[in-house]
Amino acid sequence: MCGIVGYIGGRDATPIILNGLKRLEYRGYDSAGLAVLENGHIEIRRDAGKLSQLEALVNDMPIKGKIGIGHTRWATHGEPNARNAHPHIGSTGDFVVVHNGIVENYLTLREELIAEGTKFNSETDTETIVHLIEKYYASSGSLVESVKKTLAQLKGSHGIVVMSSKEPDKIVAARVGNAGGVVIGLSEDENFVASDLPAILEHTRRAIFLESRQMAVVTRGEVAVYDINGKDIHPQVQNIAWDPVAAEKGEYRHFMQKEIHEQVRSLTDTLAGRVDFDEGSVLLHELNLDSDKAKRIQKIIITACGTAAHAGMVGKLLIEHIARIPVEVAIASEFRYADPLVDKNTVVLAISQSGETADTLAAMEEGRSKGAILWSIVNAIGSQAMRIAEGCIAMQVGPEIGVASTKAFTAPLLDLYLLAVYLADLRGVIDSKQRYSLVNDLMLVPSLVGECLDREAAVLDLAKKFRHMRHMLYLGRGINMPIAYEGALKLKEISYIHAEAYPAGEMKHGPIALIDKSMPVVALTPNDPWYDKMISQIEQAMARGGEVIAVATDGDKLIRDLTDHIMWIPKTPWLLSPVVTSIPLQLFAYHIASLLGLDVDQPRNLAKSVTVE
Ligand code: M6R
Repeated sequence: MCGIVGYIGGRDATPIILNGLKRLEYRGYDSAGLAVLENGHIEIRRDAGKLSQLEALVNDMPIKGKIGIGHTRWATHGEPNARNAHPHIGSTGDFVVVHNGIVENYLTLREELIAEGTKFNSETDTETIVHLIEKYYASSGSLVESVKKTLAQLKGSHGIVVMSSKEPDKIVAARVGNAGGVVIGLSEDENFVASDLPAILEHTRRAIFLESRQMAVVTRGEVAVYDINGKDIHPQVQNIAWDPVAAEKGEYRHFMQKEIHEQVRSLTDTLAGRVDFDEGSVLLHELNLDSDKAKRIQKIIITACGTAAHAGMVGKLLIEHIARIPVEVAIASEFRYADPLVDKNTVVLAISQSGETADTLAAMEEGRSKGAILWSIVNAIGSQAMRIAEGCIAMQVGPEIGVASTKAFTAPLLDLYLLAVYLADLRGVIDSKQRYSLVNDLMLVPSLVGECLDREAAVLDLAKKFRHMRHMLYLGRGINMPIAYEGALKLKEISYIHAEAYPAGEMKHGPIALIDKSMPVVALTPNDPWYDKMISQIEQAMARGGEVIAVATDGDKLIRDLTDHIMWIPKTPWLLSPVVTSIPLQLFAYHIASLLGLDVDQPRNLAKSVTVE
């Protein structure tokens, strides 16, 4: 996952940046680089591989200066090599940029810049940023103005840090959306910039967290914050606790809230290195598959527990729809004793955040003992479920501390989508046009999730209204039915409110008897193929006095006429809609529990990793 560190002050910038990057190493990366202003000009060192390689490079060719920026990169556009590593420098050599996020319209911007005569040196989306800054500087003569104009051109969600030999007394940092957090560390006669607190905590405990659509001009003695239209902001300076756990929580009240907000970034990182947007292809080398092996697969059994099993339920629909392979979802605690029908042409695919869940590991053993091909999707690096699988897709979301899983739910949704496209391609089920379109849709996901997070205040209002309910019913259909299960699980595990989920079509077979004013119905009604069916279920619930809280797509007049309680989501390709519909439900559960004053991160009776049967 990408990391950023910047320094301006009286000390040698290079070791400070390298140390800061090391503190972010645990997040994972495949190349690294730094740029330092040395005697008035920008010097860059960057390389593929680990930070030790960058350190060796810097030892061979030292650079000294008192202002610099550095980056660790997970590849999204272009392979991990020195040319594609950050920082990216413009054509004149006067501007340098590091960036977290995806420039969704980079192809258009790149073509426009090329038509104007710009030469590109990398395959990255980030390089467009530095060329735009350079272009706008030529007309404005101001770094801040050129960053502002550049941000106005970029689609997507970004954290950007810029340095220029034209204005050698400052670093400019900006955040738009949630892909790239930007934190400014304040100290005496020196200041720091980073994507994450751990990078700067050894130097200072006073920090400013940039909000979305804010930028900071950081000089040695001063930090000024503006919104991206140039209006002055008086940011809150936070004093970070010395307790390392509290420090890690940063600007958030609970880890769960932090982790919900990290999803723009974790989803960007999930795509990193696995998707080639130019080619429209998916690369899952970690599965060691070729076309012949992929064609021999006759069945996939996804096995998992709790939240991970809900992700698996979405995966079933994705893989069956896109790759046309039959998929079963088996709750691991049942599968391990079910004497399942498994053979060497069956894949047993385990999903687990911790990679240590006893039932999931036992289910994997059951599959292996019957000769199945064993795959896993796992977050905890080095865990058992990662080690015993023949092929493992690592989630790349970083540590998840809150017991209620959030970012480790949405990441496997994308992993399963990638797997479905990958298998479909290897088995020749989709043509290149279909593959391109499926892959292209992925690029939108981080910013769609960011838009949902920007609407947190509206979800909080609904949480205030419904927090005293004792029961709630969650309804969904098709690809969003598992999201109803997941939404209900989130609510019950942290708020202790009884929440049940049903496939909406089942209502008339019994559960509709429960509906009255004291049983609100949370209905998932995005624009997916089950939309009309969901509308009739909502009408039936309302006819029986039920209050409906809908998750619906912007501009949906039908829903607006039916209910006042709506969590709006942006328009989303339906196969990816579960990632987006999950977000308001996570926020809804979080705010209810938080308003009730409960221990959100460590709810009663629950453990983060269930290593016993
Ligand atoms: O670590 P795992 O993903 O294997 O854990 C599985 C479940 O225990 C876990 O998802 C649990 O349901 C969470 N509390 C959900 O928020």
